[in-house]
Amino acid sequence: MTAPARMPEVPGREAIAERLLRSSLDHSYEPSIDIDWDAPLVDGLWGIPEHRVSLYGTRLWFELTDEQRRTLSLHELCSVARIGLWFELILMQMLLRYAYDRDPRSKHIQYALTEIADECRHSVMFGKLNERLGVPDYRPHRITHELGRLFKTIGYGPAMFAGTLFVEEILDQLQREAMRDETVQPLTRMVNKIHVTEEARHVRYAREELIRIMPTVGFAERQLARYLTARIAYVVARNLIHRDVYASVGIDPSEGRRAALANPNFQETLRWSARKLVPFLREQGLVGGPTESFWRQAYLV
Ligand SMILES: [Fe+2]
Ligand SMILES: [Fe+2]
Repeated sequence: MTAPARMPEVPGREAIAERLLRSSLDHSYEPSIDIDWDAPLVDGLWGIPEHRVSLYGTRLWFELTDEQRRTLSLHELCSVARIGLWFELILMQMLLRYAYDRDPRSKHIQYALTEIADECRHSVMFGKLNERLGVPDYRPHRITHELGRLFKTIGYGPAMFAGTLFVEEILDQLQREAMRDETVQPLTRMVNKIHVTEEARHVRYAREELIRIMPTVGFAERQLARYLTARIAYVVARNLIHRDVYASVGIDPSEGRRAALANPNFQETLRWSARKLVPFLREQGLVGGPTESFWRQAYLV
């Protein structure tokens, strides 16, 4: 029998993947079992923290009853989960294509496959959350949906990891805060706890990969990656809160959206959600230059 070919040595990469694999064994959930989907919602609690609701502090906000405000917070929770699910579907396909071309004996690729399994459970969890709360399907706008189809089919390299990091890190900020907030529904807190725990590994994986590949990327590819990352960030930030959520409390969707985008509290929430990520992407040369205007227009810097 011939010995298997030697795998190329990639310092550090295998050791990190091995740690991530071990952590996946020790700290993973099965949301279908670990969440009590039949538990009733608790009266008087919020879907997301009150101050993170997109209309918080606006004129429209003061015209809503307390109950309507909490209803809106549940719809916004579902909208954010829905955009997370949308991107997870894109990411799973990109990771599958990534693994298709590489050596499955490496821990690095075994971890990529493990991450797909995590994302698959997350997408079921977010789907069940939307089903449980009986909200409409807050899928992204049609053009965004089609752009996502293109990206999941051809996305690779720096933009794949940077785009992924963007979605994972802004969700991490929002969910980490809400999972500790006792004014928030236990259902939200458990969903967030599961997602935050498992996503910490994904963030590590994507950051390490970017640190490794950026020095090998040429000028033209870096410009393209900057553009794509900025586009993803803009599109995700704009779709985070679906305009139809406002209809749940009798507000015209266009009016609600205009008020949210002009709301300094909501703009600050967006900047706050990206505050850890932007300096890292800037260090990697993935934020800066003319495409930074997309980040500004989306209130992310
Ligand atoms: Fe996820
Ligand atoms: Fe993830």
